Amino acid sequence: MSLASLRRAASTCRQCDLYKNATQTVFGEGPAHARMMMVGEQPGDQEDKAGEPFVGPAGRLLTAAIADAGLDRSTVYLTNAVKHFKFTERGKRRIHQKPSRTEAVACHPWLLEELAAVKPELVVCLGAVAAQSLLGPSFLVTRHRGEISTLPESTTRVLATVHPSAVLRAEDRDAAYRDFVNDLTAARTALE
Ligand code: URA
Repeated sequence: MSLASLRRAASTCRQCDLYKNATQTVFGEGPAHARMMMVGEQPGDQEDKAGEPFVGPAGRLLTAAIADAGLDRSTVYLTNAVKHFKFTERGKRRIHQKPSRTEAVACHPWLLEELAAVKPELVVCLGAVAAQSLLGPSFLVTRHRGEISTLPESTTRVLATVHPSAVLRAEDRDAAYRDFVNDLTAARTALE
């Protein structure tokens, strides 16, 4: 199926309950045949409103890290493991909640369809939700970050690293950012 058809189909997805409170499905974006696909966790508050992935604070950090790793964001297909924003309301603020395994599993077919359509040579998983969605629930980003392996039953290469929001929250943000850029640099060099 083409990305345009997938985007249309995903816009009415009811495979889990997250559609009920979210503004809209946030589907992936980027070149239809990008060599690199990056997979985040789920849209955040700003992404939910804009309908585009990685446009909020984590997205700005990701954009900077992509550039510092010598990559061009416009050449990367960016998507999420879960395509609706999950949150709790605290006053006027909407606070991110981690999607459950069931929600990630419910959303998995969309990610598989994106992989089948884009056919990237390398997938970068940003954080545990993305990594476990593609590499299994026992995959530990802390143990395997920066390593290149392949997706199950596939020759597509994959590398997992931390989520950009973990860099934003890190006590030593400069060191966390450097390590994150190093992982993205490893992803870039894998495609050279
Ligand atoms: N965090 C994600 O994982 N994805 C987004 O699109 C934005 C923030």
